[in-house]
Amino acid sequence: MLTAHQTPAIALTTKSSRDIETDLLIFPVFEGDTLTDEADLDGASGGEVASARTRGELKGTAFDLFFTSVRGWKASRVALVGVGSRKDLSPDRLRRAATAGALAARQRCLTNIAIVHRPGTDVTAQEAAQVLTEGVILANFDGASYRTTDPPRVWLDTVQLRVGGEPAAVERAVERGRVLGECTNLSRTLSNEPSNALTPRVFAERATAIATDAGLTLEILDETRIAELKMGLLLGVARGSQEPPRVVVLRHEPKKAAGIGSARGPTSPVLGLVGKGITFDAGGISIKPAENMDKMKDDMSGGAAVLCAMAAISRLQAPVRCVAVIPMTENMPGGRALKPGDVLTSAEGKTVEVLNTDAEGRLVLGDAVWYARQLGATHLVDVATLTGACAVALGKTTTGLFGTPDSWVEQVRRASERAGDRSWQLPVFDDYKELFKSEIADFGNTGGRAGGAITGALFIKEFTGDLPWVHMDIAGTAWAEDAKPYQPKGATGVGVRTLAELALDVEAWAKL
Ligand code: BES
Ligand code: MN
Ligand code: ZN
Repeated sequence: MLTAHQTPAIALTTKSSRDIETDLLIFPVFEGDTLTDEADLDGASGGEVASARTRGELKGTAFDLFFTSVRGWKASRVALVGVGSRKDLSPDRLRRAATAGALAARQRCLTNIAIVHRPGTDVTAQEAAQVLTEGVILANFDGASYRTTDPPRVWLDTVQLRVGGEPAAVERAVERGRVLGECTNLSRTLSNEPSNALTPRVFAERATAIATDAGLTLEILDETRIAELKMGLLLGVARGSQEPPRVVVLRHEPKKAAGIGSARGPTSPVLGLVGKGITFDAGGISIKPAENMDKMKDDMSGGAAVLCAMAAISRLQAPVRCVAVIPMTENMPGGRALKPGDVLTSAEGKTVEVLNTDAEGRLVLGDAVWYARQLGATHLVDVATLTGACAVALGKTTTGLFGTPDSWVEQVRRASERAGDRSWQLPVFDDYKELFKSEIADFGNTGGRAGGAITGALFIKEFTGDLPWVHMDIAGTAWAEDAKPYQPKGATGVGVRTLAELALDVEAWAKL
């Protein structure tokens, strides 16, 4: 298997544009941009830049690319990447522009690039350093890990960034961007793995390696331990498969945790992260149609996001205690599989009538969320490729957010905005609960087509013990069906940076 991603060497520079030695020097360019802060550029390009602007080829429209050679500069060539209007420049726009520029460089076999942060915008030097770093690392990903016939792949080797600002702070921001970019790529690599390579046992082994590397405490619960804990919902889903289930538990114990030693004493918050780790979802006896079933290898993307976010949280020494629970199993239609109408008893004791075995995510999450509470979580976030209905509601670019109280949902939403993971809240009114009533048990596991994403969320809520809780439905966002200039097709790593940004939000944790 080939490696799916590499991290280039990233260095800061203060050199003038003409003195930066590189294969490709990248400038963001705004709409109506006269490039006055780069007055020499037009001359070096032999008037190409000005004439492209007059022709209308260079408009600054977001992610449009314009290439030119430059005479008398140390760079071999220059790329101008459109970023839209100057006043609307956001860290996220800049992150995407960096990815677009870096992907274009790789396509042209240019391995040493430099990116300049232009003055006169609301994006600070530190923000720019972080998101430009993230953006180029996200571009250095290639999912074709099992090809043997392709020509050797081109990776970015070195990246120079000129962002201004205070050197030590900017260096820290680069480090943060590097960890967040790497951990996102790690999550994409896992989601991309076929299910014959990444079984629940292998997923747990990969988690062990990643956790050890990042300095996290890890525990693997095997099928015996899972049975001792009476996790009937998880065991029910696992019944149809030859592969035994696993639960991976990770802990991050910072030396200086938020809340500890504060006026409220030892009642410090514990962030509980739970990720759906279905390594293949065939649907079980309620089997899925053949078309697109191959995509169900990525049904562990929530689990991968939680695992890789925990790695980032540990490497960046987030100030809050965290515990993560990742239930791992296949959902298969074997001879001993769960059947529609079967009743399961959860670890918490609540009973569930399984009306549709394809609604397996909420089952495994029910037991996992309960376990996160047993381990001391005070604030819950679960991440799951839970419902096709969420993708119908919000499309392929926006993650669904559900939860209570609204202040906690809003804290997660803001973290997702900083992370560049788009998300939007949907309601969890009690009124929807009657949709998944059962004639025989406490509740059923499905509620019909109407409000399908919401009933999925409300099912999980039954196991949260009324702790602050957010559910992120990434069914639409975990996998990109179409390539964009800033996002290749395939696994996106959605959720990794949101969860890490959430844990790194020092001010918010101090207030809780
Ligand atoms: N893993 C799927 C959800 C999914 C569907 C993710 C498409 C990505 C793309 C989940 O386990 C599932 O099958 N959900 C069902 C729920 C239904 C049976 C209530 C669905 O969405 O159809
Ligand atoms: Mn399913
Ligand atoms: Zn599923």
